[in-house]
Amino acid sequence: MTATATPKPTDTPFLTDVKELRKRARAHLETGNVTQSYTGDVDQAIAILQNVLATEIVCVLRYTMHSIAATGIASEGVRDEFAEHAKEEQEHMMMVAERIDQLGGKPNFNPEGLATRSASQYAEGNNLVDMIKENYIAERIAVDHYRELIRYFADNDPTTRVMLESILATEEEHTNDMHDLLVAHEGKPMLPAD
Ligand SMILES: [Fe+2]
Ligand SMILES: [Fe+2]
Repeated sequence: MTATATPKPTDTPFLTDVKELRKRARAHLETGNVTQSYTGDVDQAIAILQNVLATEIVCVLRYTMHSIAATGIASEGVRDEFAEHAKEEQEHMMMVAERIDQLGGKPNFNPEGLATRSASQYAEGNNLVDMIKENYIAERIAVDHYRELIRYFADNDPTTRVMLESILATEEEHTNDMHDLLVAHEGKPMLPAD
């Protein structure tokens, strides 16, 4: 009775592939969760994302401050809107910080130099309409900036690109919300040219 020869592990391409993948994954443990298929410039990606992180932190701070500082009977609904945006900006902040970590970087939460790293401004605004305007301007800047970054990451880093696309969708909603509030509280559809 002849027993069927058991193939040696080396004859099994599937197992060999798994071993190879594990070896590769282990070899890259020290440089973070970036696979060999990453075709972008990791250092550049981290540097860009540090700026996005700063932008989101500034947005969290600005909306949080506005949600507390907005006063008067007319501001009630607006305050809630500011508070909701602050929460969503914080979610963005976390997503970006996680991505920096995955790429092997250290998310920069240092308050020193934060305003310089950010693409949006921390502007207080003297009254409700000014606050809405400041947020509207900041959102417009964020939308333009993120669209540009999405084009930059393209197919070189689809994970970062997809993350930015989902953030962009929320920023576009935020822009519309601020635009609608501006119309409701100032009666003008657009900001006057400065
Ligand atoms: Fe955001
Ligand atoms: Fe936003």
